[in-house]
Amino acid sequence: MEKLVINGKTPLKGDVTISGAKNAAVAILPATLLIDGICTIDNVPNISDVKIYCDILQDLGAKITWNNEHEITVDTRNINSYNSPLEKTSKFRASYYLIGSLLGRFGHAQVGMPGGCNLGARPIDQHIKGFEALGAKVDVSQGKITATAEDLIGTSVYLDMVSVGATINVMLAAVLAEGTTIIDNVAKEPHIVDVANFLNTMGADIRGAGTDVIKINGVKKLHGNATYSIVPDQIEAGTFMLAAVATKGDVTIRNCITKHLEPIIAKIIEMGAEVDDIDGDNIRVWCTKRPKKINIKTLPYPGFPTDLQPQMGVILSMADGTSIINESIWESRFQYTEELNKMGAKISAHGKTAVFDGVEGLVGAPVYASDLRAGAALIIAGICAEGTTEVYNLSHIDRGYENIEEKFKKLGANIERVVE
Ligand code: UD1
Repeated sequence: MEKLVINGKTPLKGDVTISGAKNAAVAILPATLLIDGICTIDNVPNISDVKIYCDILQDLGAKITWNNEHEITVDTRNINSYNSPLEKTSKFRASYYLIGSLLGRFGHAQVGMPGGCNLGARPIDQHIKGFEALGAKVDVSQGKITATAEDLIGTSVYLDMVSVGATINVMLAAVLAEGTTIIDNVAKEPHIVDVANFLNTMGADIRGAGTDVIKINGVKKLHGNATYSIVPDQIEAGTFMLAAVATKGDVTIRNCITKHLEPIIAKIIEMGAEVDDIDGDNIRVWCTKRPKKINIKTLPYPGFPTDLQPQMGVILSMADGTSIINESIWESRFQYTEELNKMGAKISAHGKTAVFDGVEGLVGAPVYASDLRAGAALIIAGICAEGTTEVYNLSHIDRGYENIEEKFKKLGANIERVVE
């Protein structure tokens, strides 16, 4: 078993370069299945979710070539199966994008019930509603989802709630459908725009991504023959911004899109820390005094992202005064608060609300990551804490952060990966 051993009380200082967005990569990789050709994708994050996705695409008959650490060429001309390997697809959540892609290209898809982070109930009824509106038959039984369609015909789909996954999945299924599809009440996260830009680069006709309504004019074929660079990871950038504040450090975050970070910048300023948006692609965050209490409510973009809630929770556990976080997306996202309490925090979480009575400082302890972002939060807590922290369950963290301990080490953290 691997663990991270962190000796804390080190303010983070220096520069960190952000990788390509995990949540864009895990949608763009399956989106290549819609192309009858070859495409190249750059700025691919080197994380385990991407590696699993590449494996799955190869199992389906795609040829994948890593040109360098962050660039891959995908040849999807010889896909010979629509049944994705159940044991691999059930390992992570974003495998559901295989349904939209395979259904869109071949009219047939089979995928294991998606797994992934344990954040509470994660229904996919809105994805299914969209596929059915386009004319597909969907069966969910025996731990797998099967979707079939003679023809997919463009239509109007209204999503009952703002869902990142449903927005992208219905968009994938509609790209090669006959006629026009309009998806209403869609999510607006940066990676949704990125997936639409990728598909348009390959020959799709998608308009409105980034607004509440997406219009897709179906095309006969996606041509490939293009290179696309994945957008920088908004959540990784936010993680390092919040780590700079939590450790009372001074960090410049490079290769990010600061426009995507506005809700995080606003909250950092409200806490009394400092931000300098250098040029739209690089941002400096520093903190010289104890952060003030603030309240947070997680919301779909451009609200405060749920995927940065645990990292923010670390700061609030040590802020001056009592802060409240209201989690409106995932019901089980407060599991990390139990671990912070082992480190001396005073947090009481009930349902969707957690109350943080700020303490002066945290003390090192063995802690367990319950999910990806909880894992990032515990690393930050360990870097802040007095003494030694051991973080376990690293497979969650490796799913979505590239070289996380190396990046923190370069900023001055005393952190080592140890095999027990
Ligand atoms: C994506 C992100 C995840 C992030 C989340 C919210 C990926 C791979 N993962 O997850 O990191 O935390 O967005 O920003 O991009 N819902 C339904 N029915 C559905 C779909 C969703 O009820 O068919 C509900 C969910 O239970 C949740 C809310 O809608 O309460 C938002 O979920 P959604 O945006 O779909 O999250 P994911 O796409 O799974």
